[in-house]
Amino acid sequence: MDIVSTPATAEDNLQMADAPPEPKAPAIIQRKDYKPFPWLIPQTHLSFELGLEKTRVTATLTVERNPEAEASPTIRLNGDGLKLGEFKCDGAKCSGHTMDGDDLVVTLEGDSHTLTIVTEIDPSQNTQLMGLFASGGMLCTQCEAEGFRRITFFPDRPDVLSTYTVRMSAPNAEFPVLLSNGNNTDSGEGEGGTHWAEWHDPWPKPSYLFALVAGDLVANSDSFTTMSGREVTLNIYVRDGDLPRTEHAMESLKKSMVWDEETFGREYDLDLFNIVAVSDFNMGAMENKGLNIFNTKYVLADPETATDGNFDAVEGVIAHEYFHNWSGNRITCRDWFQLSLKEGFTVLRDQLFSQDMQGEAVKRIEDVRVLRSVQFPEDSGPLAHPIRPDSYREISNFYTSTIYNKGAEVIRMMRTMAGPDAFRKGTDLYFGRHDGEAATCEDFVRSMEDGAGLELEQFRRWYSQAGTPVVEAVLVHDGDTAALTLKQTVPPTPGQVEKQPMPIPLRIALFDRATATHRGEELVMLTDAEQTFTYEGFAEKPVLSINRGFSAPVTVRRDIPQDELVFLAANDDDPFARYEAMQDLVTDYLTQVAAGSQDDAMRAAIGEAFAAIMQDGDLEDAMRGELMILPGETYLAEQVDAADPGRIHEARQGLKAWLGETFGDQLRALHDRANNVPYGQSAEARGARKVKTLALTFLAAADADGTAKRAAGQYDAADNMTDRQGALMVLAGLNSPERTARLMDFYNRYRGDELTIDKWFATQAASLHPNVIEHVKALAEHPDFTMRNPNRVRSLYMAFAANPQGFHAPDGSGYKLIADVILALDPINPQTAARFVPYLGRFRRIEAGRAKLMRAELERIAASPTLSRDTHEQVSRSLG
Ligand code: ARG
Ligand code: ZN
Repeated sequence: MDIVSTPATAEDNLQMADAPPEPKAPAIIQRKDYKPFPWLIPQTHLSFELGLEKTRVTATLTVERNPEAEASPTIRLNGDGLKLGEFKCDGAKCSGHTMDGDDLVVTLEGDSHTLTIVTEIDPSQNTQLMGLFASGGMLCTQCEAEGFRRITFFPDRPDVLSTYTVRMSAPNAEFPVLLSNGNNTDSGEGEGGTHWAEWHDPWPKPSYLFALVAGDLVANSDSFTTMSGREVTLNIYVRDGDLPRTEHAMESLKKSMVWDEETFGREYDLDLFNIVAVSDFNMGAMENKGLNIFNTKYVLADPETATDGNFDAVEGVIAHEYFHNWSGNRITCRDWFQLSLKEGFTVLRDQLFSQDMQGEAVKRIEDVRVLRSVQFPEDSGPLAHPIRPDSYREISNFYTSTIYNKGAEVIRMMRTMAGPDAFRKGTDLYFGRHDGEAATCEDFVRSMEDGAGLELEQFRRWYSQAGTPVVEAVLVHDGDTAALTLKQTVPPTPGQVEKQPMPIPLRIALFDRATATHRGEELVMLTDAEQTFTYEGFAEKPVLSINRGFSAPVTVRRDIPQDELVFLAANDDDPFARYEAMQDLVTDYLTQVAAGSQDDAMRAAIGEAFAAIMQDGDLEDAMRGELMILPGETYLAEQVDAADPGRIHEARQGLKAWLGETFGDQLRALHDRANNVPYGQSAEARGARKVKTLALTFLAAADADGTAKRAAGQYDAADNMTDRQGALMVLAGLNSPERTARLMDFYNRYRGDELTIDKWFATQAASLHPNVIEHVKALAEHPDFTMRNPNRVRSLYMAFAANPQGFHAPDGSGYKLIADVILALDPINPQTAARFVPYLGRFRRIEAGRAKLMRAELERIAASPTLSRDTHEQVSRSLG
């Protein structure tokens, strides 16, 4: 309330006294306020008496004054919902401590002390899944970013590194396996059917990398010999029945270990590497030192239940977490503003790994598709933030596509500018210089300058400025000179109205139209707001191929005639650029159709390119599939102001139907041909599966009945999940008798298999069926649905929120449904609840009618008096 402009009457004052206190907005943490912690914690000893409902934690910390920090008479130990049991200082009861909110603040007289802290927690009530929680009868932890403070009082910040020794005791029958970080140093039998184990991690680490697991688990065990000849035992722990599904994860782990030695010179540094799969997990996985904890979704895979996409995701996430051992654990982050230091770099590392495993072109296209459909909308909306943010209220909200995927693109640009060899010199210097430290993004950039020989002064703007730069490209031909004029603008984002030009590395090539060749690619550095680059010796106007390989994470608007796009879609030798030409062609057409003008000549040109792609005998199917995929509706909506999601959906479906109708024979032939390729993991077989289902999606838009039969045939004959789920997805969007029968079959076939039943929910929630909202509402009542399991919540509701025709229903019922989910989930699992807010937060880019409804739902959420810090922050930023 504004007390200056509205003088309060006596009555107001009385009412104010009676009114409940305004819920206090959570504090804003600022990057500029960073100060080193005044104390060091050389040793941390943790003793756990484990139980599902009651776990007693005794923490013994040695504390010493930090000579490099400003001295303080007190030490602040963070807590989150903890009750302090016993507290001792140097072995004696002491009184020099108070609670400040959730934190424990202790006055310390000397320079070094030993603190003993006892807390008691109830893992079974921990529905947030942060700290120590129960999942399917086992106990496990998730501490990043600030979960450790839900276990014991501790300086829970990434720049306090400590050496951990852990003792666990637990009932033998319930928890035969007891794991923590590092090495198992001792174990034995205790009293009353209990046993115990001791673990020691020789590598000092921040609290967010602590982990513990106790449960009835079995392991797939293997070993790996490192480049210096050390034997490492590898274990993947899962529930009993899941063991046969761990082989792919194990192979992926071993491949990752070799690759990191060969590509980055990084060797593993313990004798043991453990992975544990848990069913209840907020994120994908976690890189705890020597004990990675994974969402089952990113460990378990076999052909019967995992799609090709699932296999790739397992490989990528296993690699990602393993690579964190160097980019994250050996070198960690000074504070959470530096999160992209480890995440952006590690995403780049896992992308390069997957490129090497699966082929560069297709992986690059897939990564760019994710960037554009998730990160670009984030960067153009109310939640936009630089890859190194300046402030936050709840750090969980900053595990974003910007930090991860744009962060990876920024480091990839450095690699493009330096070349792979110089880049490696830079990373070698970074790893050598900062090993054992909690570092900053600035440290990384400086290592790249010194090691890779790059000059990155202006480049640092990529760390501080949010928003996706737009580059306008115009090529003018005169005499025998081609002049390329590039203009850049960086759009305003919240808190950053004025932007400086960014250095933008663009790989370009100029094609000779007649021979479909070019003189070689070059890297153009656009550093100013506007620059012109001239090229001599072109008797004819060349065709511009730009941002090849997606060398910069920008939007290129090229002023280029349609026939040149068609030319590039058929001839560009850079696979990404070829894909891009096709996407641009279709995007131009569809945005025009959505705006009410239908260009039949343009559609015919698209059809010609599409047919050529289907028939190109030199193309591998995996790449053919990429070229056939139409730009997504979210991406299309981003290309226009005040997008109408309904018209975009109709336009896109209309083109699919026209292509399906016009090229029905070719699509059926493609489907038949791919159908005859037997199951296998070869690129050929995988490619065939991709184009097989893709062909169905076009056919379904043109001929529902005929395609329902074809899809049912694919479903019935399927000997793998890729074909089965692909067919089910197509059927789920059709009003046909085949639909119901196959959905029932799928459920009965996989009943009780959590990850596969997730697919059953997701396939229906993502479907093109006109009644999808009713289906989602009914599925929420299904006995297998629960708000307690994040995978299940995501498979029903995230799939729906990302389904434009359901979510953007003109009457606002989709928005209401998601707002209701946020309100219901927030008290159970705020971190996952907050992840739904961005879907509603995009209202400023949507046409006025829907925007109003979206905003109203956000306001309804904001009016709730009991919002978590997570959801509160996202909703208030969205309403801005
Ligand atoms: N560091 C993990 C990874 O990217 C993510 C953990 C994030 N967890 C969270 N609760 N915010 O590999
Ligand atoms: Zn990560």
